Amino acid sequence: MERDADSYRPLARALHWATAALIALQFAFGLIMVHDAPEPNLWATLAERFQLYDSHKVLGIALFALVLVRLANRAISGAPGALPEVPAWQRAAATLGHVALYLLLVAVPLLGWLGISLYPALQVFGTASLPSLAAPDRAASETVLFWHGIAAFALVGLALGHAGAALHHHFVRRDRTLRRMLGR
Ligand code: HEM
Ligand code: HEM
Repeated sequence: MERDADSYRPLARALHWATAALIALQFAFGLIMVHDAPEPNLWATLAERFQLYDSHKVLGIALFALVLVRLANRAISGAPGALPEVPAWQRAAATLGHVALYLLLVAVPLLGWLGISLYPALQVFGTASLPSLAAPDRAASETVLFWHGIAAFALVGLALGHAGAALHHHFVRRDRTLRRMLGR
């Protein structure tokens, strides 16, 4: 359902910015925890002190749940169409970009979760165990986690391009695109 060219609703805005903040955190955690250098080094110390592997798994699954809520809200409440002055090819590019972002928002955490199920490395913080998505298979886990990393880079690359487009609307074209997502 397409709504008029008015603002995004408060729930859609909250979910958008919460997702963006969590992706930034998850990406940083992921990079720090896989950083490979002779120990001791700052990254290894940080990873150990903040139990980054376990935090990354739990936060990643929480983010996956948040994305499902966001998609349900999008399906129920729709979103405002692009501003009328935006040319057709840019509308098409934006729609394509948004679909790709949603696909990656689902694929990245699912690949991570599938990877730790196959490994298996489901225990977190020494006590709790996350639900498994598949029977153990170490070789498959390595392939899946490799693609998890690639997909995470694709997601963040696309999100940076997307943020660049939003800033271009705001500072160069000076239209309401970004303000509609900020709620002003
Ligand atoms: C959208 C959410 C997520 C993002 C943006 C993300 C991002 C990343 C990044 C950037 C890396 C480093 C990849 C590399 O350079 O090799 C990584 C590694 C990893 N992630 Fe995620 N991740 C997310 C969700 C998850 C989830 C839900 C799980 C599991 C429940 C998970 C499990 C892992 C594991 C086990 C690794 C280490 C892989 C290895 O040791 O090679 N991630 N993640
Ligand atoms: C990981 C980070 C991000 C992700 C995954 C993401 C994802 C998305 C998605 C999927 C939409 C489409 C919403 C819909 O209509 O259903 C959207 C809209 C939007 N995002 Fe982001 N976003 C991110 C970061 C940002 C940042 C940093 C900015 C600003 C600098 C931004 C500005 C916007 C704006 C202005 C819209 C509305 C676009 C329009 O009216 O057509 N986003 N975002």
